[in-house]
Amino acid sequence: MTPTRKVAVIYATEQGSTRDIAEFVAADLADRGAEVHLREVGYAPGLAGFDMVILGSAIHNMDFLPAAVDYIGRNRAELAATDVRLFGVGLGPALRGPVGRRIGRVVPEKIAALRDAVHARDYRLSCLRRGLRASWRIPEGTNALPSHGRWPLR
Ligand SMILES: Cc1cc2nc3c(=O)[nH]c(=O)nc-3n(C[C@H](O)[C@H](O)[C@H](O)COP(=O)(O)O)c2cc1C
Repeated sequence: MTPTRKVAVIYATEQGSTRDIAEFVAADLADRGAEVHLREVGYAPGLAGFDMVILGSAIHNMDFLPAAVDYIGRNRAELAATDVRLFGVGLGPALRGPVGRRIGRVVPEKIAALRDAVHARDYRLSCLRRGLRASWRIPEGTNALPSHGRWPLR
């Protein structure tokens, strides 16, 4: 039997989509036997003892939200020493057509720099399948969570 993995799922959100996706990710990991601690970035736990950290942020102006950028800056060394994976939540995956799909896959420079600063093993881009509850929410029918996929539990 594989030992239980202790995972921190940390998120920064403005309108809730990133929290919804973080909840989805956390529930999926817990279903597979992980001990999961889900927290908003302002209440992130100390990282000692965690086997994996999954950190997600809404994307604003081609960057993570300031709270996530600050958190990564303050905890860079600890994060870099951990198995860390990042995800961003933005409109990119909702873009259609050959050009839209290409643009949607580009990792913005500032986010790539954050990913590299903590030696993240993975960066995923997501959007959420739901109605337009707020003007910047992702439109219904966008293929979001399936594109996000499941995180491997190693
Ligand atoms: C001011 C502002 C800037 C945004 N900039 C981007 C962007 O650069 N790239 C992108 O893909 N989405 C961008 N978005 C869309 C958000 O990422 C999208 O609304 C996302 O669902 C927000 O996640 P949240 O619900 O967790 O806050 C922007 C939204 C706002 C309000």
